[in-house]
Amino acid sequence: MTAETGRNTSGPRFGVWANVYGTWASAHHPEDPVDASWERNREQILLAERLGYDSTLIAQHLVNPHSADWDQLETWTATAALAATTTSIELIAAIKPLLFHPVVLAKQAATIEEISRGRLSLNVVNAWFRPEIEQAGIVFPEHDSRYAYGAEWLQVVRRLLSGEVVDHHGRYFDVDGYQLHPTGRFRTRPQLYVGGESDPAKDLVADQGDVWFINGQPLDNVRRLIADVARRPRVGAPVRYGLAAFVIARPDEAAAEAELRRHWALKELDEPYAERVIAGADQQAVMFATFAKYPAIGTNGGTAAGLVGSYDQVAERIVEFHRAGIETFMLQFQPFEAEMERFAAEVIPRVRSLLTTDGAEAVGVAGALGA
Ligand SMILES: Cc1cc2nc3c(=O)[nH]c(=O)nc-3n(C[C@H](O)[C@H](O)[C@H](O)COP(=O)(O)O)c2cc1C
Repeated sequence: MTAETGRNTSGPRFGVWANVYGTWASAHHPEDPVDASWERNREQILLAERLGYDSTLIAQHLVNPHSADWDQLETWTATAALAATTTSIELIAAIKPLLFHPVVLAKQAATIEEISRGRLSLNVVNAWFRPEIEQAGIVFPEHDSRYAYGAEWLQVVRRLLSGEVVDHHGRYFDVDGYQLHPTGRFRTRPQLYVGGESDPAKDLVADQGDVWFINGQPLDNVRRLIADVARRPRVGAPVRYGLAAFVIARPDEAAAEAELRRHWALKELDEPYAERVIAGADQQAVMFATFAKYPAIGTNGGTAAGLVGSYDQVAERIVEFHRAGIETFMLQFQPFEAEMERFAAEVIPRVRSLLTTDGAEAVGVAGALGA
């Protein structure tokens, strides 16, 4: 806990994906119509905060990957509004470097850091949905070039957010004697997350990030991925880790499995939307190879993380991931609000009590990695 926020910082921490796409699973769920409105997102995140969630991830797309006709909430304007509306939850705003000049984005981020009184984080994501970029007339460089551009972009943003006078003359950016005010009133700078599963994504987080977001997948993979990032060259505190997952928790396993079957049936109705996502996806994006291996409900790995089962089973699996080094669990549900309430009431207390009874909370992330 920090005195500043009263929130849990060493983990396990729990977060929810803001509903900026309108749904994270089926577009045909009878109790969860697609709704990406500001009002829905505001109420969702205020509820998450009241329930004790530590964090929210505000993903970034300018157009909805599932349908050209669907609404999509814009990340940075919505995050500014959430900063003014909420009081304690961490706001992780995703950013695709191709979409903003680094000086402009750093200034916006510094201002949201002020409005939120030190609660902003950035999730640097290097783009995979080609139509979003190409139909705007922006060049979509191939995979590794996007990461090279993103790495240089993040160098500028990171230094500006740290309050430095930035002289940067690189391949992509020429920044001359730039300094932003105010910065650093609440802490050194906002936290930097990185999402992406390829080698350049791993290098980027080891080199410049604070937290690496892993797509939902089985525990053994997650262990391997963490070990891979942990052994990369790094200056400063060890990288911390977050995991994306879609949760289906019920009083008993049979009820959870029945609910999972219902989700699979609903997903079949979504086939036309899935086709648009696949057609627009960069074939080099490594995360799609992982998704192909582990079909799942939800995005970014979703149920492939295995958080489907009885309340006790889900709590036990979370503890296992936490022991493997996961600090923040970034969760999706459907229907979102009702299921996140259930998770807060039934699963989080079980996780806390498992960790208290076996003393595992003392292990922490660094201990679990042997770092
Ligand atoms: C937790 C998480 C959140 C992500 N959020 C976004 C997002 O908001 N917008 C986006 O375009 N990509 C998002 N991504 C996708 C990645 O940033 C990246 O584009 C993708 O993984 C392809 O890169 P890769 O080849 O390194 O895997 C996210 C990835 C993860 C793991």
